[in-house]
Amino acid sequence: MQLLTEKMKNNSQVVSEQILRVDSFINHMIDPEVMLEIGREFARRFAGTQINKVLTVEASGIAVGLTTAMALQAPLLFAKKRKPSTLDQQCYQSQIYSFTKNESVDVFVAKEYLTADDRVLIVDDFLARGEALKGLTKLVEQAGAHLVGVGIVIEKVFQGGGKTLRNSGIRIESLIKVNSLEGGKLHFEE
Ligand code: G4P
Ligand code: NA
Ligand code: NA
Repeated sequence: MQLLTEKMKNNSQVVSEQILRVDSFINHMIDPEVMLEIGREFARRFAGTQINKVLTVEASGIAVGLTTAMALQAPLLFAKKRKPSTLDQQCYQSQIYSFTKNESVDVFVAKEYLTADDRVLIVDDFLARGEALKGLTKLVEQAGAHLVGVGIVIEKVFQGGGKTLRNSGIRIESLIKVNSLEGGKLHFEE
């Protein structure tokens, strides 16, 4: 995880004690080499688990999802924050509450793309309080699919979402674990 670690050290910015900016390589401008490294690392960690689908949520999960899907040779499905416009398309739907925005959004996936036969890896860029992840796991449950695990690029451990979800039995692999952003400084494990 050499590239990602270097970028975290040199190109991330602590915005507040809660928020880290990674706009120059993940969230706005995307560094393709970093994304390839991330995808390969998730594939390595979940090798042998027979994942046949990668699931994320738009927008910033898509780049992470694509390189992961490429490395696992599986399709990437991303939950949409608007119901697909095709009128007769049947969807699974769940709600994600955002603490940062203090609002809920509904997310949707078409039933035809997530089924009981699927062995799913969920990926996302950030894990904070875990609301996004909970919303995605509900879609997997509704489909009767099997959740193999979760791959997260940056887990903000101090916000507690990872702990709660691991306690519920979900395997979560985080590439970077941020223990605190106190004093405007990034404190992380690799
Ligand atoms: P949670 O999902 O873990 O509970 O966290 P929260 O509600 O706080 O996250 C809301 C949005 O903010 C998510 O993106 C999440 O990825 C992002 N986010 C959370 N913490 C940070 C952070 O420290 N830095 C940055 N840059 N983003 C953070 P989203 O609303 O799904 O937006 P999108 O960018 O994927 O479209
Ligand atoms: Na985001
Ligand atoms: Na995200």
